[in-house]
Amino acid sequence: MPSISSLLLSALAVAAPIFAVDTPVNATLNKEIKTAPTELSKLDLVRDDYAFDFTQSEKYSYSPGGVVNANAATFPASTGHGMTVAWLALGPCAMLPPHFHPRADNFVVAVEGNTTTYMVQENGAKIVTSNLTPGKLTIFPQGSVHSMQNNGCTNATLISALNSDDTGTTNLLNALYQLPGDIVDAAFGTNSTSNGGSVPDVGTGAAVGSAECRARCGL
Ligand SMILES: *[C@@H]1O[C@H](CO)[C@@H](O)[C@H](O)[C@H]1NC(C)=O
Ligand SMILES: *[C@@H]1O[C@H](CO)[C@@H](O)[C@H](O)[C@H]1NC(C)=O
Ligand SMILES: *[C@@H]1O[C@H](CO)[C@@H](O)[C@H](O)[C@H]1NC(C)=O
Ligand SMILES: *[C@@H]1O[C@H](CO)[C@@H](O)[C@H](O)[C@H]1NC(C)=O
Repeated sequence: MPSISSLLLSALAVAAPIFAVDTPVNATLNKEIKTAPTELSKLDLVRDDYAFDFTQSEKYSYSPGGVVNANAATFPASTGHGMTVAWLALGPCAMLPPHFHPRADNFVVAVEGNTTTYMVQENGAKIVTSNLTPGKLTIFPQGSVHSMQNNGCTNATLISALNSDDTGTTNLLNALYQLPGDIVDAAFGTNSTSNGGSVPDVGTGAAVGSAECRARCGL
């Protein structure tokens, strides 16, 4: 009989992909804005939809957390403006698993909490670690692998600015475990095939953090 946790994981694997990527809220509008002859005609197309409410997104969550993007897909008014703003909501000990953005540099500023960030730019680069407390900013260059964890037992909130309205996000482990298990095993030099099934789905973009933090915070 499957264990409760494996049932939960398979339920997550089925349920979570709904949130995994930003589906255009109005693809027709994106297309019309991209082919509009002038800025003024874009005004008519966008009409009153010039405000984006992060708190109304299904990904807005502090348990464990979530990443809410205001980008071309979720906020058509931003189409063609070459940037995304993201609200990073991290509940106690929540983390963003290692990922990179294929099409954007990423500047992140903390407004609440104490979040440790990790970044590796490419093979041979040293790891860059920053503690982001309110008012502190760090940079994840385009394509760099980065991860962060809220170390605190209270919420952390950070705001990201990225220089594309369609940044893309690639979660490393989720991408890796799409490869055949024997290829992953050979690449890692370990027998990791059996671990692939327990990599959490991308979901809201955030995940439960380290055992050390959770024990410290009594979670
Ligand atoms: C999507 O955009 C098109 C083109 O501007 C508009 O006609 C339509 O009403 C919009 N649909 C929704 C659901 O807002
Ligand atoms: C933030 O967390 C780091 C890592 O746990 C710690 O070294 C640092 O002192 C904390 N900063 C503040 C202001 O609490
Ligand atoms: C975190 O923020 C959410 C949303 O504002 C709130 O419901 C929750 O109580 C907060 N949690 C903590 C631990 O402060
Ligand atoms: C790898 O682990 C799985 C699951 O524990 C096991 O069935 C398999 O025999 C192992 N393969 C090797 C090459 O050790």
